[in-house]
Amino acid sequence: MNLGGRVVCGGCGTPAPDGADLPTRCTAAREADDVDHVLVRELDLEGTRFPFDGDGSPWVRYRELLYAWRAARRAGAADEAWCDAAAELDRRLEATGIGGAWPTPLAPRPKLAAALGRGELWVKDETTGVGGTHKARHLVPLALHRLALAPPKPPRLAVASCGNAALAAAGLARACGWPLEAHVPADIAPSVAARLEDLGARLVRCPRDPTPGDPCRRSFLAALDEGALPFSCQGDAHGLAIEGGASLVWEVVSERGLGAPPLDHVVVQVGGGALASAVLTGFRDALALGAIGRLPRVHCVQGAGCAPLAAAWERLRESGDLDPGGIAAARRRRGEVMVPWPTTPAGAAGGLLDDETYDWAALVAGMAETGGAPLVVSDDELVGACEAAAAHAGVSVDPSGAAGLAGWARLCAEGAIGAAERSLVLFTGAPR
Ligand SMILES: Cc1ncc(COP(=O)(O)O)c(C=O)c1O
Repeated sequence: MNLGGRVVCGGCGTPAPDGADLPTRCTAAREADDVDHVLVRELDLEGTRFPFDGDGSPWVRYRELLYAWRAARRAGAADEAWCDAAAELDRRLEATGIGGAWPTPLAPRPKLAAALGRGELWVKDETTGVGGTHKARHLVPLALHRLALAPPKPPRLAVASCGNAALAAAGLARACGWPLEAHVPADIAPSVAARLEDLGARLVRCPRDPTPGDPCRRSFLAALDEGALPFSCQGDAHGLAIEGGASLVWEVVSERGLGAPPLDHVVVQVGGGALASAVLTGFRDALALGAIGRLPRVHCVQGAGCAPLAAAWERLRESGDLDPGGIAAARRRRGEVMVPWPTTPAGAAGGLLDDETYDWAALVAGMAETGGAPLVVSDDELVGACEAAAAHAGVSVDPSGAAGLAGWARLCAEGAIGAAERSLVLFTGAPR
Protein backbone atom coordinates (compact mmCIF):
# COMPACT_ATOMS: atom_id res chain seq x y z
CA MET A 1 0.00 0.00 0.00
CA ASN A 2 1.17 3.52 -0.78
CA LEU A 3 2.05 5.45 2.39
CA GLY A 4 3.12 8.66 0.61
CA GLY A 5 1.69 12.05 1.36
CA ARG A 6 2.48 15.38 2.90
CA VAL A 7 0.78 18.20 4.72
CA VAL A 8 1.24 21.73 3.51
CA CYS A 9 -0.14 25.13 4.52
CA GLY A 10 -2.79 26.27 2.05
CA GLY A 11 -2.12 29.88 3.03
CA CYS A 12 1.68 30.23 2.82
CA GLY A 13 2.80 26.94 1.27
CA THR A 14 5.04 25.87 4.16
CA PRO A 15 5.25 22.06 4.42
CA ALA A 16 4.51 20.60 7.86
CA PRO A 17 7.21 18.48 9.52
CA ASP A 18 6.72 14.74 9.08
CA GLY A 19 7.07 12.87 12.36
CA ALA A 20 5.34 10.64 14.86
CA ASP A 21 3.01 13.50 15.90
CA LEU A 22 0.39 14.62 13.41
CA PRO A 23 0.83 18.23 12.35
CA THR A 24 -1.95 20.51 13.56
CA ARG A 25 -1.26 24.15 12.70
CA CYS A 26 1.20 25.81 10.31
CA THR A 27 4.63 26.25 11.91
CA ALA A 28 5.23 29.43 9.90
CA ALA A 29 2.16 31.22 11.29
CA ARG A 30 3.00 34.38 13.21
CA GLU A 31 0.58 36.39 15.28
CA ALA A 32 -1.27 38.99 13.21
CA ASP A 33 0.55 38.05 9.96
CA ASP A 34 -2.87 38.14 8.29
CA VAL A 35 -2.24 34.92 6.35
CA ASP A 36 -4.92 32.24 6.28
CA HIS A 37 -2.81 29.38 7.60
CA VAL A 38 -4.74 26.12 7.21
CA LEU A 39 -2.94 22.81 6.76
CA VAL A 40 -4.08 20.64 3.85
CA ARG A 41 -3.15 17.01 3.25
CA GLU A 42 -1.84 15.95 -0.15
CA LEU A 43 -1.77 12.20 -0.70
CA ASP A 44 0.35 10.38 -3.22
CA LEU A 45 -2.42 8.37 -4.90
CA GLU A 46 -0.15 6.35 -7.19
CA GLY A 47 -1.37 2.74 -6.95
CA THR A 48 -4.30 3.62 -4.68
CA ARG A 49 -7.72 2.45 -5.79
CA PHE A 50 -11.02 3.74 -4.53
CA PRO A 51 -12.38 1.08 -2.13
CA PHE A 52 -15.91 0.53 -3.44
CA ASP A 53 -16.05 -2.67 -1.37
CA GLY A 54 -14.40 -3.84 1.75
CA ASP A 55 -14.63 -3.73 5.50
CA GLY A 56 -17.87 -2.39 7.03
CA SER A 57 -15.99 0.17 9.12
CA PRO A 58 -15.17 3.32 7.14
CA TRP A 59 -12.01 3.74 9.23
CA VAL A 60 -10.75 0.41 7.93
CA ARG A 61 -12.19 0.46 4.42
CA TYR A 62 -10.99 3.98 3.56
CA ARG A 63 -7.82 3.96 5.66
CA GLU A 64 -5.57 4.31 2.62
CA LEU A 65 -7.24 7.67 1.92
CA LEU A 66 -6.34 8.94 5.40
CA TYR A 67 -3.11 10.81 5.88
CA ALA A 68 -3.45 9.91 9.57
CA TRP A 69 -3.26 6.19 8.71
CA ARG A 70 -0.33 6.69 6.33
CA ALA A 71 1.52 8.74 8.96
CA ALA A 72 0.86 6.17 11.68
CA ARG A 73 2.17 3.38 9.44
CA ARG A 74 5.25 5.42 8.52
CA ALA A 75 5.86 6.03 12.22
CA GLY A 76 5.89 2.29 12.86
CA ALA A 77 2.30 1.33 13.67
CA ALA A 78 1.18 -2.03 12.31
CA ASP A 79 -1.85 -2.05 10.01
CA GLU A 80 -3.52 -4.50 12.43
CA ALA A 81 -2.99 -2.01 15.27
CA TRP A 82 -5.02 0.59 13.33
CA CYS A 83 -7.78 -1.88 12.39
CA ASP A 84 -7.98 -3.29 15.92
CA ALA A 85 -8.11 0.24 17.34
CA ALA A 86 -11.03 1.07 15.01
CA ALA A 87 -13.01 -1.94 16.25
CA GLU A 88 -12.10 -1.25 19.87
CA LEU A 89 -13.10 2.42 19.53
CA ASP A 90 -16.54 1.41 18.20
CA ARG A 91 -17.01 -0.85 21.23
CA ARG A 92 -15.91 1.86 23.64
CA LEU A 93 -18.14 4.50 22.03
CA GLU A 94 -21.07 2.18 22.40
CA ALA A 95 -20.23 1.71 26.08
CA THR A 96 -19.87 5.49 26.52
CA GLY A 97 -23.43 5.95 25.34
CA ILE A 98 -22.65 8.04 22.25
CA GLY A 99 -22.83 4.99 20.06
CA GLY A 100 -24.25 5.17 16.56
CA ALA A 101 -23.31 3.43 13.41
CA TRP A 102 -21.13 4.02 10.40
CA PRO A 103 -21.74 3.99 7.49
CA THR A 104 -24.82 6.19 7.80
CA PRO A 105 -27.85 5.64 5.53
CA LEU A 106 -28.08 7.15 2.07
CA ALA A 107 -31.36 7.12 0.15
CA PRO A 108 -33.17 8.86 -2.68
CA ARG A 109 -36.08 10.87 -1.22
CA PRO A 110 -38.65 11.37 -3.98
CA LYS A 111 -41.46 12.52 -1.65
CA LEU A 112 -39.26 15.14 -0.05
CA ALA A 113 -38.04 16.25 -3.46
CA ALA A 114 -41.59 16.62 -4.76
CA ALA A 115 -42.70 18.51 -1.63
CA LEU A 116 -39.87 21.05 -1.54
CA GLY A 117 -38.39 21.25 -4.99
CA ARG A 118 -37.73 19.20 -8.08
CA GLY A 119 -35.42 16.65 -9.60
CA GLU A 120 -33.75 13.72 -7.89
CA LEU A 121 -32.77 14.26 -4.26
CA TRP A 122 -30.44 12.00 -2.25
CA VAL A 123 -30.13 12.39 1.50
CA LYS A 124 -27.21 11.16 3.59
CA ASP A 125 -28.54 10.88 7.12
CA GLU A 126 -25.87 11.57 9.70
CA THR A 127 -28.40 11.83 12.52
CA THR A 128 -27.99 8.07 12.98
CA GLY A 129 -24.21 8.44 13.27
CA VAL A 130 -22.11 8.52 16.40
CA GLY A 131 -23.50 11.15 18.76
CA GLY A 132 -26.32 12.05 16.34
CA THR A 133 -24.16 14.30 14.15
CA HIS A 134 -21.33 14.01 11.65
CA LYS A 135 -18.88 15.71 14.03
CA ALA A 136 -17.12 12.63 15.41
CA ARG A 137 -16.00 11.77 11.86
CA HIS A 138 -13.60 14.72 11.92
CA LEU A 139 -11.89 13.36 15.03
CA VAL A 140 -11.78 9.59 14.62
CA PRO A 141 -8.64 9.41 12.41
CA LEU A 142 -6.83 11.69 14.87
CA ALA A 143 -7.85 9.36 17.69
CA LEU A 144 -6.92 6.20 15.78
CA HIS A 145 -3.50 7.61 14.91
CA ARG A 146 -2.84 8.02 18.63
CA LEU A 147 -4.34 4.67 19.59
CA ALA A 148 -2.34 2.83 16.91
CA LEU A 149 0.95 4.42 17.98
CA ALA A 150 0.11 4.38 21.71
CA PRO A 151 2.48 7.15 22.86
CA PRO A 152 3.14 6.81 26.62
CA LYS A 153 1.83 10.22 27.73
CA PRO A 154 -1.90 11.00 27.60
CA PRO A 155 -2.56 14.15 25.56
CA ARG A 156 -4.10 17.36 26.92
CA LEU A 157 -6.93 17.80 24.41
CA ALA A 158 -8.94 20.96 23.80
CA VAL A 159 -12.00 21.87 21.77
CA ALA A 160 -13.95 25.09 21.22
CA SER A 161 -17.63 24.67 20.49
CA CYS A 162 -21.09 25.52 21.69
CA GLY A 163 -22.45 22.01 21.35
CA ASN A 164 -22.12 19.23 18.83
CA ALA A 165 -18.37 19.33 18.25
CA ALA A 166 -17.71 19.46 21.99
CA LEU A 167 -20.05 16.53 22.57
CA ALA A 168 -18.33 14.47 19.88
CA ALA A 169 -14.88 15.36 21.22
CA ALA A 170 -15.93 14.59 24.79
CA GLY A 171 -17.44 11.23 23.82
CA LEU A 172 -14.33 10.18 21.92
CA ALA A 173 -11.98 11.46 24.61
CA ARG A 174 -13.95 9.57 27.26
CA ALA A 175 -13.92 6.41 25.14
CA CYS A 176 -10.15 6.69 24.82
CA GLY A 177 -9.55 7.69 28.45
CA TRP A 178 -8.03 11.07 27.54
CA PRO A 179 -8.64 14.36 29.38
CA LEU A 180 -10.44 17.08 27.41
CA GLU A 181 -11.07 20.72 28.09
CA ALA A 182 -14.06 22.23 26.28
CA HIS A 183 -14.02 25.99 25.73
CA VAL A 184 -17.72 26.79 25.64
CA PRO A 185 -19.93 29.90 25.72
CA ALA A 186 -20.76 31.16 29.20
CA ASP A 187 -24.45 30.77 28.33
CA ILE A 188 -24.13 27.18 27.05
CA ALA A 189 -27.38 25.20 27.33
CA PRO A 190 -27.39 23.61 30.81
CA SER A 191 -28.30 20.20 29.35
CA VAL A 192 -25.24 20.31 27.04
CA ALA A 193 -22.98 21.44 29.88
CA ALA A 194 -24.27 18.61 32.06
CA ARG A 195 -23.72 16.02 29.33
CA LEU A 196 -20.18 17.29 28.68
CA GLU A 197 -19.39 17.06 32.38
CA ASP A 198 -20.92 13.58 32.51
CA LEU A 199 -18.49 12.61 29.77
CA GLY A 200 -15.63 13.92 31.88
CA ALA A 201 -14.87 17.15 30.00
CA ARG A 202 -13.53 20.11 31.97
CA LEU A 203 -15.56 23.16 30.95
CA VAL A 204 -13.90 26.51 30.37
CA ARG A 205 -16.79 28.99 30.20
CA CYS A 206 -16.09 32.00 27.99
CA PRO A 207 -18.27 35.11 28.32
CA ARG A 208 -18.87 37.33 25.27
CA ASP A 209 -16.91 40.57 25.31
CA PRO A 210 -16.98 43.62 23.00
CA THR A 211 -14.08 42.29 20.85
CA PRO A 212 -15.42 40.94 17.54
CA GLY A 213 -15.05 37.18 17.14
CA ASP A 214 -15.73 34.16 19.30
CA PRO A 215 -14.39 34.27 22.88
CA CYS A 216 -14.36 30.44 23.04
CA ARG A 217 -11.99 30.39 20.08
CA ARG A 218 -9.68 32.91 21.72
CA SER A 219 -9.58 30.91 24.92
CA PHE A 220 -9.06 27.64 22.95
CA LEU A 221 -6.22 29.13 20.87
CA ALA A 222 -4.55 30.35 24.07
CA ALA A 223 -4.75 26.78 25.40
CA LEU A 224 -3.11 25.49 22.19
CA ASP A 225 -0.32 28.04 22.62
CA GLU A 226 0.23 26.56 26.10
CA GLY A 227 0.63 23.07 24.64
CA ALA A 228 -2.89 21.63 24.45
CA LEU A 229 -3.63 19.53 21.36
CA PRO A 230 -6.60 20.55 19.22
CA PHE A 231 -9.38 17.95 19.23
CA SER A 232 -11.66 20.22 17.33
CA CYS A 233 -13.59 20.23 14.10
CA GLN A 234 -12.11 23.31 12.41
CA GLY A 235 -9.46 23.00 9.74
CA ASP A 236 -7.52 26.06 10.82
CA ALA A 237 -6.98 24.56 14.28
CA HIS A 238 -6.21 21.08 12.97
CA GLY A 239 -6.01 20.75 9.20
CA LEU A 240 -6.22 16.97 9.40
CA ALA A 241 -9.69 17.19 10.98
CA ILE A 242 -10.97 17.63 7.43
CA GLU A 243 -10.09 14.24 5.99
CA GLY A 244 -12.16 12.32 8.56
CA GLY A 245 -15.23 14.29 7.51
CA ALA A 246 -14.55 13.33 3.89
CA SER A 247 -15.45 9.77 4.84
CA LEU A 248 -19.13 10.62 4.49
CA VAL A 249 -18.61 11.42 0.82
CA TRP A 250 -16.52 8.28 0.30
CA GLU A 251 -19.47 6.35 1.71
CA VAL A 252 -21.84 8.09 -0.73
CA VAL A 253 -19.56 7.32 -3.68
CA SER A 254 -19.14 3.67 -2.64
CA GLU A 255 -22.80 3.11 -2.09
CA ARG A 256 -23.86 4.69 -5.36
CA GLY A 257 -21.24 2.56 -7.11
CA LEU A 258 -18.85 2.93 -10.02
CA GLY A 259 -20.63 4.36 -13.05
CA ALA A 260 -23.57 5.78 -11.07
CA PRO A 261 -25.13 8.82 -12.75
CA PRO A 262 -23.21 11.84 -11.47
CA LEU A 263 -24.51 14.19 -8.79
CA ASP A 264 -25.12 17.66 -10.20
CA HIS A 265 -25.43 19.59 -6.93
CA VAL A 266 -24.43 19.23 -3.29
CA VAL A 267 -25.93 21.73 -0.87
CA VAL A 268 -24.10 21.87 2.46
CA GLN A 269 -24.75 23.70 5.73
CA VAL A 270 -21.85 25.80 6.98
CA GLY A 271 -20.79 26.97 10.42
CA GLY A 272 -17.01 26.98 10.82
CA GLY A 273 -16.78 25.39 7.36
CA ALA A 274 -15.04 22.09 8.13
CA LEU A 275 -18.00 20.01 6.98
CA ALA A 276 -18.17 21.65 3.54
CA SER A 277 -14.38 21.55 3.21
CA ALA A 278 -14.55 17.82 4.00
CA VAL A 279 -17.29 17.33 1.40
CA LEU A 280 -15.12 19.00 -1.23
CA THR A 281 -12.12 16.92 -0.17
CA GLY A 282 -14.13 13.70 -0.42
CA PHE A 283 -15.36 14.46 -3.92
CA ARG A 284 -11.91 15.59 -5.05
CA ASP A 285 -10.38 12.33 -3.76
CA ALA A 286 -13.06 10.32 -5.56
CA LEU A 287 -12.45 12.24 -8.79
CA ALA A 288 -8.68 11.84 -8.53
CA LEU A 289 -9.15 8.07 -8.13
CA GLY A 290 -11.56 7.81 -11.07
CA ALA A 291 -14.46 6.81 -8.81
CA ILE A 292 -16.61 9.67 -10.17
CA GLY A 293 -16.48 11.42 -13.52
CA ARG A 294 -16.86 15.03 -12.36
CA LEU A 295 -17.36 17.21 -9.31
CA PRO A 296 -20.89 18.30 -8.35
CA ARG A 297 -21.63 22.00 -7.97
CA VAL A 298 -21.11 22.80 -4.30
CA HIS A 299 -23.39 25.37 -2.63
CA CYS A 300 -22.86 26.51 0.99
CA VAL A 301 -25.78 27.50 3.23
CA GLN A 302 -25.79 29.76 6.30
CA GLY A 303 -28.61 31.29 8.33
CA ALA A 304 -29.47 34.99 8.03
CA GLY A 305 -28.35 35.72 11.60
CA CYS A 306 -24.76 34.65 10.92
CA ALA A 307 -23.49 34.53 7.34
CA PRO A 308 -19.82 35.55 7.30
CA LEU A 309 -19.01 33.22 4.38
CA ALA A 310 -21.59 34.84 2.10
CA ALA A 311 -20.17 38.25 3.08
CA ALA A 312 -16.61 37.13 2.27
CA TRP A 313 -17.77 35.75 -1.09
CA GLU A 314 -19.46 39.05 -1.87
CA ARG A 315 -16.28 41.01 -1.04
CA LEU A 316 -14.28 38.82 -3.41
CA ARG A 317 -16.95 38.95 -6.11
CA GLU A 318 -17.02 42.75 -5.95
CA SER A 319 -13.24 42.99 -6.23
CA GLY A 320 -13.18 40.45 -9.10
CA ASP A 321 -11.14 37.97 -7.06
CA LEU A 322 -13.21 34.78 -7.40
CA ASP A 323 -10.55 33.04 -9.44
CA PRO A 324 -7.68 30.84 -8.19
CA GLY A 325 -5.15 33.73 -8.27
CA GLY A 326 -7.54 36.13 -6.54
CA ILE A 327 -8.41 33.59 -3.86
CA ALA A 328 -4.73 32.72 -3.25
CA ALA A 329 -3.96 36.42 -2.83
CA ALA A 330 -6.97 36.86 -0.54
CA ARG A 331 -5.49 34.22 1.78
CA ARG A 332 -2.66 36.67 2.42
CA ARG A 333 -4.99 39.47 3.51
CA ARG A 334 -7.37 37.33 5.54
CA GLY A 335 -8.54 40.12 7.84
CA GLU A 336 -10.00 42.11 4.96
CA VAL A 337 -11.89 39.16 3.51
CA MET A 338 -13.03 36.91 6.38
CA VAL A 339 -14.48 39.53 8.68
CA PRO A 340 -16.07 38.20 11.89
CA TRP A 341 -19.86 38.58 11.88
CA PRO A 342 -20.41 42.08 13.28
CA THR A 343 -23.18 41.25 15.75
CA THR A 344 -23.73 38.36 18.14
CA PRO A 345 -24.62 35.42 15.87
CA ALA A 346 -28.27 34.44 16.23
CA GLY A 347 -30.86 32.20 14.61
CA ALA A 348 -32.60 28.85 14.62
CA ALA A 349 -29.55 26.97 13.34
CA GLY A 350 -27.57 27.03 16.59
CA GLY A 351 -24.82 24.76 15.20
CA LEU A 352 -24.02 27.20 12.40
CA LEU A 353 -23.45 30.27 14.56
CA ASP A 354 -19.69 30.61 14.09
CA ASP A 355 -18.54 34.23 14.05
CA GLU A 356 -16.07 33.32 11.31
CA THR A 357 -16.03 30.62 8.66
CA TYR A 358 -12.62 29.27 9.56
CA ASP A 359 -12.34 27.10 6.43
CA TRP A 360 -13.64 29.91 4.17
CA ALA A 361 -10.82 29.75 1.62
CA ALA A 362 -11.42 26.07 0.78
CA LEU A 363 -15.15 26.77 0.46
CA VAL A 364 -14.80 29.87 -1.70
CA ALA A 365 -12.33 28.03 -3.95
CA GLY A 366 -14.58 24.96 -4.14
CA MET A 367 -17.73 26.92 -4.93
CA ALA A 368 -15.97 29.06 -7.53
CA GLU A 369 -14.39 26.00 -9.18
CA THR A 370 -17.59 23.98 -9.32
CA GLY A 371 -20.03 26.77 -10.23
CA GLY A 372 -21.77 26.94 -6.85
CA ALA A 373 -22.37 29.95 -4.62
CA PRO A 374 -23.26 30.70 -1.00
CA LEU A 375 -26.88 31.02 0.09
CA VAL A 376 -28.43 32.65 3.13
CA VAL A 377 -31.70 31.19 4.41
CA SER A 378 -34.22 32.51 6.91
CA ASP A 379 -35.31 30.83 10.13
CA ASP A 380 -38.71 30.17 8.50
CA GLU A 381 -37.01 28.28 5.68
CA LEU A 382 -34.99 26.27 8.23
CA VAL A 383 -38.06 25.35 10.23
CA GLY A 384 -39.91 24.45 7.01
CA ALA A 385 -37.05 22.13 6.02
CA CYS A 386 -37.17 20.36 9.41
CA GLU A 387 -40.93 19.89 9.10
CA ALA A 388 -40.62 18.56 5.57
CA ALA A 389 -37.85 16.14 6.59
CA ALA A 390 -40.10 14.75 9.32
CA ALA A 391 -43.22 14.62 7.14
CA HIS A 392 -41.74 13.30 3.88
CA ALA A 393 -38.62 11.39 4.94
CA GLY A 394 -39.55 10.39 8.49
CA VAL A 395 -36.33 11.89 9.85
CA SER A 396 -36.10 14.15 12.90
CA VAL A 397 -33.42 16.67 12.12
CA ASP A 398 -32.60 19.98 13.78
CA PRO A 399 -32.44 23.33 11.93
CA SER A 400 -28.63 23.24 11.65
CA GLY A 401 -28.81 19.74 10.27
CA ALA A 402 -31.57 20.62 7.79
CA ALA A 403 -30.02 23.85 6.50
CA GLY A 404 -28.67 22.15 3.38
CA LEU A 405 -32.18 20.99 2.57
CA ALA A 406 -33.51 24.52 3.10
CA GLY A 407 -30.84 25.80 0.70
CA TRP A 408 -31.69 23.09 -1.83
CA ALA A 409 -35.38 24.10 -1.71
CA ARG A 410 -34.39 27.72 -2.30
CA LEU A 411 -32.20 26.79 -5.29
CA CYS A 412 -35.10 24.81 -6.77
CA ALA A 413 -37.49 27.73 -6.21
CA GLU A 414 -35.04 30.09 -7.93
CA GLY A 415 -34.73 27.72 -10.90
CA ALA A 416 -31.04 27.07 -10.23
CA ILE A 417 -31.75 23.34 -9.93
CA GLY A 418 -33.63 21.75 -12.81
CA ALA A 419 -36.12 18.89 -12.94
CA ALA A 420 -33.58 16.64 -14.65
CA GLU A 421 -30.85 17.26 -12.09
CA ARG A 422 -29.60 15.11 -9.23
CA SER A 423 -28.71 16.57 -5.82
CA LEU A 424 -27.30 15.48 -2.49
CA VAL A 425 -28.03 17.02 0.90
CA LEU A 426 -26.85 15.94 4.36
CA PHE A 427 -28.91 15.69 7.51
CA THR A 428 -26.22 16.41 10.06
CA GLY A 429 -27.88 16.87 13.44
CA ALA A 430 -30.56 15.06 15.42
CA PRO A 431 -32.64 17.28 17.72
CA ARG A 432 -31.28 17.12 21.28
C1 LIG B 1 -25.69 19.75 13.12
C2 LIG B 1 -24.59 20.51 12.46
N1 LIG B 1 -24.57 20.55 11.12
C3 LIG B 1 -23.60 21.24 10.47
C4 LIG B 1 -22.63 21.93 11.16
C5 LIG B 1 -21.64 22.73 10.38
O1 LIG B 1 -20.35 22.22 10.42
P1 LIG B 1 -19.12 23.17 10.27
O2 LIG B 1 -19.00 23.96 11.53
O3 LIG B 1 -17.97 22.25 10.06
O4 LIG B 1 -19.36 24.05 9.09
C6 LIG B 1 -22.62 21.91 12.56
C7 LIG B 1 -21.59 22.59 13.32
O5 LIG B 1 -21.59 22.68 14.52
C8 LIG B 1 -23.64 21.18 13.23
O6 LIG B 1 -23.69 21.13 14.57
